Amino acid sequence: MCGIVGYTGDKQAQPILFNCLKRLEYRGYDSCGVAVAVGGIELYKDAVRIEALAKASPKFKGTTGIGHTRWATHGAPSRDNAHPILDCTGKIAVVHNGVISNFQELRDQLTGEGHNFASETDTEVIPHLIEKYYDGSLEEAVTAALNDINGSYAIIVLAADKSELVVAKKDSPLIIGLGDRENYIASDVPAILDYTDRVIYLEDGDIGVVTKNDVKIRRDGKEIAREEHKVMWTVEEAQKAGYEHFFLKEIHEQPKVIRNTLGEFTRETEQAVDLVGIGGRGMESILMVACGTAYHAALTGKYIADELLRVPVRVEIASEFNYYSHTLARTVAIAVTQSGETADTLKAMRKLKEAGCRVVAITNVVGSTASRIADQTIYTRAGPEISVAASKTFIAQLMVLYWLIMSYSKADARRLANLLMELRQLPSKVQQILDNEAEIIEHARYLSKYENVFFIGRGINLPVAQEGALKLKELSYIHAEGYAAGETKHGPFALLGGNTPVIAIVAKDNTYDAMLTNIKEIKARGSPLIALAEEGNEAIEELADSVIAIPQVDAIFSPVVNTVALQLLAYYTAKERGCPIDFPRNLAKSVTVE
Ligand code: G6P
Repeated sequence: MCGIVGYTGDKQAQPILFNCLKRLEYRGYDSCGVAVAVGGIELYKDAVRIEALAKASPKFKGTTGIGHTRWATHGAPSRDNAHPILDCTGKIAVVHNGVISNFQELRDQLTGEGHNFASETDTEVIPHLIEKYYDGSLEEAVTAALNDINGSYAIIVLAADKSELVVAKKDSPLIIGLGDRENYIASDVPAILDYTDRVIYLEDGDIGVVTKNDVKIRRDGKEIAREEHKVMWTVEEAQKAGYEHFFLKEIHEQPKVIRNTLGEFTRETEQAVDLVGIGGRGMESILMVACGTAYHAALTGKYIADELLRVPVRVEIASEFNYYSHTLARTVAIAVTQSGETADTLKAMRKLKEAGCRVVAITNVVGSTASRIADQTIYTRAGPEISVAASKTFIAQLMVLYWLIMSYSKADARRLANLLMELRQLPSKVQQILDNEAEIIEHARYLSKYENVFFIGRGINLPVAQEGALKLKELSYIHAEGYAAGETKHGPFALLGGNTPVIAIVAKDNTYDAMLTNIKEIKARGSPLIALAEEGNEAIEELADSVIAIPQVDAIFSPVVNTVALQLLAYYTAKERGCPIDFPRNLAKSVTVE
């Protein structure tokens, strides 16, 4: 989604803004632009990639400026609709992330007052309102403008004749990066990692004035102090480190991510377990909310809990959850969200809090909005995930869920001890799959010729089938569906045949026999069948056209190894088809609008 950056200091702003925007590319965008204060405002923007913009743009000489990557919501991707957006006088420029819900009403009113609009964006009402209220103090004008606005926003406002930037935040992330005689503003930490690791996370309702030597934040007119945080991520973690794509790098980081996330728990176990409160304080059920890949992690968590916890667990897609009223008494709510900024997940969290639930967030981003809404946050230790399609954060989310559920489990002590031992071996099992990449590349070459693929799974591997299909469609643009194997007879069978391969995820658990029958039924209808199965499973080797061999693990951990294999399969299939991989068309890393 939209990314915003700002700089004020002693250096030339424009090259810094381009570099920060480059670091935000991963969020997904369709147009971009920069504006620099030079007495007037110099602005250059277009519906192009950042490299192209930087190449084509005139060089602006000024030390205060703002930049933006846009992911279109109101108005098509175009030069006019790209940010920064100006007021009528051309002396105020705004970059905005979020959605102004009453923009039409404000636009009609401002048009009636003589303001001319140059774009179709909801954002444009902001510079016009600031222009209307401006009387020498930019901060006061922004405050007055925001009083008229409903909706979500993270904004940076630049004025032609000022070396200050005014920032404001509501329901969209915004951080300030602190430097020496310079300060940065961004929607996201990776944008500024090249320059500083000291950040302030703004809260909803904050309005700030940022100059090169100072950051002043006000709330309801009163000045307040916001704590400075040290970012734990390094610049190197946010770079490709010799890999062709971030997605491949992030897949390969997974053994380390598992170790890090588990290592964290051994240090924090006692306290965190106590706080989550499952089974305590009269809590009787768990409700998980999430979107996208995080939803698949939550669904997997439900199966883990069904086996080890025996507490009723519900999993809801956050956007759907938000429409209905729910029975939430004695429920612990868990929100799973990599970015901690997904609008639907945040809305669900707020709703859960209002309903009196204890809300726990599982997120990868320290200081994210989810962590601030939640009563308690458990961090995944995956490091920055740059590829739009999630990989390592999914595995890290699973690790947190295994650990949490095992901590509360009343299962047989010997079984738990064995599981703990296996959990510790997971990094080396995942490494085995990574070492076996060549075999998966062969399968990917084969798959890349097709346009429709079914992934089937049962039990704990149903969410894996769904995640495998999601990865394939987002990376390779092949239409893929993840289906409950038993349901395929109720419709998908009509699509089987030589042009529709099926990928069957086979686990050695109570679903095994039924899955074998499904495979036979599918083969009988002529679909090419690739099975993911434990190495050395001769029965499957005989039945399937080909097998991706998976290291042996307890079936409860099979989602980890199976998903890693499917991530590689999606990656190499997309590569074979020449897809952009890290930045799939129309997708965004962090979906900050409903
Ligand atoms: C977007 C991303 C996905 C992610 C989903 C949920 O669609 O492209 O990779 O799974 O949002 O994001 P969250 O940050 O809440 O996990």
